[in-house]
Amino acid sequence: MSILLIHNIGLLATPVGTAARRGAEQGQIQLRKNAWVLINDGVIAGVGEGAIPDLSGYFVPMLDAGGRLVTPGLVDAHTHLVFGGWRQNELGLKLHGATYLDILAQGGGILSTVTATRKATEQELFDKARAALDEMMGMGVTTAEAKSGYGLDTDTELKQLRVIRRLNEEHPLDVAATFLGAHAVPIKYKNNRETYIKLLCEQMIPAVAREGLAKFCDVFCETGVFSAEESRRILETGKRYGLIPKIHADEIDPIGGSELTAEVGAISAEHLIVCPPDGIAAMAKAGTVACCLPATSFYLGSTYAPARDMVNAGVAVAMASDFNPGSCPSLNLQFVMNLGCLKYKLTPEEVLTAVTLNGAAAIGMADKVGSIETGKQGDLVIWDAPDLDYICYRMGSNLAKTVVKKGEVVKNRV
Ligand code: NIG
Ligand code: FE
Repeated sequence: MSILLIHNIGLLATPVGTAARRGAEQGQIQLRKNAWVLINDGVIAGVGEGAIPDLSGYFVPMLDAGGRLVTPGLVDAHTHLVFGGWRQNELGLKLHGATYLDILAQGGGILSTVTATRKATEQELFDKARAALDEMMGMGVTTAEAKSGYGLDTDTELKQLRVIRRLNEEHPLDVAATFLGAHAVPIKYKNNRETYIKLLCEQMIPAVAREGLAKFCDVFCETGVFSAEESRRILETGKRYGLIPKIHADEIDPIGGSELTAEVGAISAEHLIVCPPDGIAAMAKAGTVACCLPATSFYLGSTYAPARDMVNAGVAVAMASDFNPGSCPSLNLQFVMNLGCLKYKLTPEEVLTAVTLNGAAAIGMADKVGSIETGKQGDLVIWDAPDLDYICYRMGSNLAKTVVKKGEVVKNRV
């Protein structure tokens, strides 16, 4: 049994609730001054303002927040955490004008990471992903999602998912697993995509479900990758095997991904850079979480998802890193928060909800994490900052001072 009292919190800022917050609610944050949080056995046992609770007679370790800002631990709801190699060679191609889809069409991009991921051993992938998770944790992330999708064959997809399972078991962070076998059509099936889709539906999805290796099934619904109709087939099959749908939708071309999200009842749609008004309306109606990834727009030099319009239309917006070796080689969720304000024009309060409670909702964990409330997991960050505006305004520094996961200090910078 472990217990921890965090006190002398200058400002405690948190969204509240166990579901995604949308519309005006996205910006409604609970603020407490001179606050404390009591965590017992990994779970928040009390939150208050002013005098700390009387715990005389108990031995209670105390953590002094030094008058700083405290928020829930950040939730990175969209990452491609497990991969072999890197792709710095593509930087030069980009500088010479090649687009993301050009590089993919030439067998580079995702497909070159597939080659590296197939070659890597499970242990190598684990060590590399664990280092990335450590880095994320050091920057204030306490829960993450991780996708497969760099195997594109049954063995390697399962290898990636086993790495994710082991990370969830062995690393302090909670890691939610998503099967993304439909991330690209492998070169071998270039002229025979139907065979690959059959392989996905008849072999890979059943194998993933049999081993209980993923909670979600995702598809890259994009020009030259999977059409909306193909995506529907794959996601419907996933559903039959108990996998909750997610979609990479409207990242580069709007080919119906956000509308499909609503039709198949996906928990979230991801990217949405070029999401059309119909897609926004469909997501608002269906209650889909829009998981927007502004660091990818930044890295691709593209436009930004219409996140402001989404919030205004009553869509719950989450924001995540999209950490991957191609379109976003960064796992810095604090930079994502900067971009949420500067590019999406969300307020710091809306941004906080996007990277905590709404991120948690995008991975079906809003009942456990994403806010600082009695009964939720004891996951929080003490920031080297006095208020929310400050963390959205400072850029390029890591402002996470102390990170607490399930009541344990997992990172502390003196
Ligand atoms: O989310 N869009 C598809 N997948 C990733 C990129 C993966 C890669 O380039 O390796 C993304 O942007
Ligand atoms: Fe992605």
